[in-house]
Amino acid sequence: MNVKQATSVRDLCTNCAYCKSAIKCPGELYCVACGACIEACPQSARIFIETEKEVEKYNLLIDGDIYTVLENQTILKVLESLGYKISSHSHDAQIYAPCKTGGCWSCAVLVNGELKPSCITPIEDGMEIVTDIDNITPMRIVSGFQGHHVGGVGTPKNIEITSPFGYIEVACFTSGCLYRCPTCQNWQVAYLSNSEALTPKVAARKLTEVRKQYRVNRMAISGGESTLNRKWLVSLVSNLKFLNPDSLARIHVDTNASILTPDYIDELVNAGLTDIGPDLKGNSVETFMKITNLKDQELAKRYFDTSWNAVKYILDNHYGKIFMGVGLPFNKEFMTLTELEEMGNKLANWEPDLQVTVLDYRPEFRAQHIERPSVHLMKNVKEILSSTGLTSVICQSIYGHIK
Ligand code: FES
Repeated sequence: MNVKQATSVRDLCTNCAYCKSAIKCPGELYCVACGACIEACPQSARIFIETEKEVEKYNLLIDGDIYTVLENQTILKVLESLGYKISSHSHDAQIYAPCKTGGCWSCAVLVNGELKPSCITPIEDGMEIVTDIDNITPMRIVSGFQGHHVGGVGTPKNIEITSPFGYIEVACFTSGCLYRCPTCQNWQVAYLSNSEALTPKVAARKLTEVRKQYRVNRMAISGGESTLNRKWLVSLVSNLKFLNPDSLARIHVDTNASILTPDYIDELVNAGLTDIGPDLKGNSVETFMKITNLKDQELAKRYFDTSWNAVKYILDNHYGKIFMGVGLPFNKEFMTLTELEEMGNKLANWEPDLQVTVLDYRPEFRAQHIERPSVHLMKNVKEILSSTGLTSVICQSIYGHIK
């Protein structure tokens, strides 16, 4: 029968080998068409082809029932074909699978007693799969535990630097994202699945250790999209709070806020969150779709609305008790200065003292055709946003932050 297999287009592939080093793949000869390497290839050189293959039948024990299915599939695809409710936007589905590249582990199931991400794990004959993991400790791919001299969107601009080495905070980076931004600045992390998955307790211990090592008060969780695996993130924040009971400790989450509903925000704040940096990608769904490369307009609108609503909800309910700084990505290729000004007007109207950081989106990942905004343009951006009444505007530029 014909099966799908991922392969590289020779003229486009630069042999960077990211698809081999970063992606947890059972191998080219045993491609199960999960698609993770296609999403992750910075050159867009990976494609699916159809190929003739003899396909065996496997018996699987899923939630206590035996099923006979064809090999060469991921667990997620099998579950979907058996009628399990899979969703890329709702935690209420039986399986929530937002990144589909093996990083967030929201889609994890028990495989022969071990937690594994269903979206990239191939089926094997005789496998036992359990989908109800409510009582199992969540895990997630998280990496890069180290100190940073520059903070994130949710770092207050005038914080006192206590580290004798000039570090502002320590951070870790969660894998997996539900956006597909061609300008992704953290794509090595966003698509990383071939790394160790950690429980919240172990991740909290590691971040606490580096906090002591770098002698800082701030601990940041960034990504990828940090909020995807809700149970994992809430547990990480409460574990950090437990391990860092001193009043100077700050627990900071950077996020695109696409799934950050009021109940989720409250849960994070109750767990110990002190600082948050949501990104707002445009003032219209059209711009949002250009930046994120999402193709489903309904889904894009849901994420767009949720992110703006999250900022308003935090301002109305938590601002002052926790710190919030908002990020606005900018490049004239996908946003006009008029749209940026509209965003400034909206935010200034809500809270003029809100810290706003404009990120100069540049030709990283797949957007090699765009230019990084010039320093002159970013100075202009700063003037425009300040004229809306915002009192705390920071603009990222090639020569550092314009404050
Ligand atoms: S959806 Fe499977 S790891 Fe994120």
